[in-house]
Amino acid sequence: MKSVRKVRCLKGELRVPSDKSISHRAVILPALAEGESYVQEWLLSKDTLATLNIIRALGVKVRHKNGTLRIKGSNFELLEPQRVLDAKNSGTTARLMLGVLATQRFFAVLTGDQSLRRRPMLRVVEPLRRMGAHLDGREGGDKLPIAIRGGALKGTSLFNRKASAQVKSCVLLAGLRAEGITEVYEPYLSRDHTERLLSAMGVKLISYDGKFGRVVKLEGGQTLKATEILCPADPSSAAFFTAGAVLLEGSEVLLKDVLVNPTRDGFFRKLREMGAHVQYENLREISGEPVADVYVKYSGGLKAVDVHPEEVPSLIDEIPILAIVMAHAQGISTVRGAGELRVKESDRIKAIVENLRRMGAKVEEYEDGFSIEGGTPLRGALIKTYGDHRIAMSFTIAGLTAEGETQIDNPECVAVSYPNFFQDLERLTC
Ligand code: S3P
Repeated sequence: MKSVRKVRCLKGELRVPSDKSISHRAVILPALAEGESYVQEWLLSKDTLATLNIIRALGVKVRHKNGTLRIKGSNFELLEPQRVLDAKNSGTTARLMLGVLATQRFFAVLTGDQSLRRRPMLRVVEPLRRMGAHLDGREGGDKLPIAIRGGALKGTSLFNRKASAQVKSCVLLAGLRAEGITEVYEPYLSRDHTERLLSAMGVKLISYDGKFGRVVKLEGGQTLKATEILCPADPSSAAFFTAGAVLLEGSEVLLKDVLVNPTRDGFFRKLREMGAHVQYENLREISGEPVADVYVKYSGGLKAVDVHPEEVPSLIDEIPILAIVMAHAQGISTVRGAGELRVKESDRIKAIVENLRRMGAKVEEYEDGFSIEGGTPLRGALIKTYGDHRIAMSFTIAGLTAEGETQIDNPECVAVSYPNFFQDLERLTC
């Protein structure tokens, strides 16, 4: 249990930990390349460590020292693992690694923790089966543990209806070793770190706006070349301090080296639409990704906003913290088309609605989102995190703005993406 109380403001400079999505890919793709890759500022967290441990269990040599990785690429010659592979709490690990394992002729079994074993996998299992891999698991292959034997894949064409980057990445990774073309269509572009990194590693892929949305295509049989990657700071982690600074009078923070890829910065854009002072400084490119220092100031008089279905992919992981900001804005804010939140590390719609109500906010729940009538002052409450890191961090920020004491159950779950969250928060508190 962690006790949180109202603070005056947040002030100072902070480089939040590196991006989780990029850090997963910065291990997986170099592990498949020819030659030795270097990764700097790699995120050390429970989720990314799950990926690293699985990659090592597949025979890839990785040296890890002070946030730098040296990865000896296998050129797709992985070894049959001797034990069950454990993705722990990480959906990205599970889904991307199933794509990698589908390229291999050997037998492997993948599992995860209690939360991950409840999450849907058919979205990757079905396309991989169509490509020719053999997968079996609980509930017809929808739930981990899943056993897989791959090899001899054929290219496929997939409509990625939910615009899931994990599904897209899984299929593209499998497509790298499939015969012919693999293509993924999505209604709106999901995060594109896999495509960017594959291009940087010499893979030829094309992406364009087609009749049914975004298309990305690649031909199988291509080799990945080793590379050097510098991981930028995670906008999803920066979002908590951004929200805190916007909400607490007198705050001023500078968040350094933040990834502002347009498939990821929807939260910052939404805050601006609410009238918040969130500014990108020193915009530059690092390892093929746009990066900026994000300057944030207290912003009174926030206006309510709506989040529309097509905007959801660019702020999907920030919806819990956006809900906290919405609870402070004047008017009714609505989020729709975000049903995917129900199958994240927890049922995030339920967790947001239930915990905000406990704090006294006026909230309505929908199957695919919620609406919040902002402006009622929040009061401290007992927060149920459901072991979900983003719920824990979002409601910690809510607690900083509330009257009385807020208690966060299972605060340790922040280690999934941000092990030093509470220490960094303490440092910026004034
Ligand atoms: C991720 C994709 C998103 C996101 C998750 C990380 C990724 O999930 O919510 O935290 O790294 O590809 P979906 O692909 O299921 O939308």
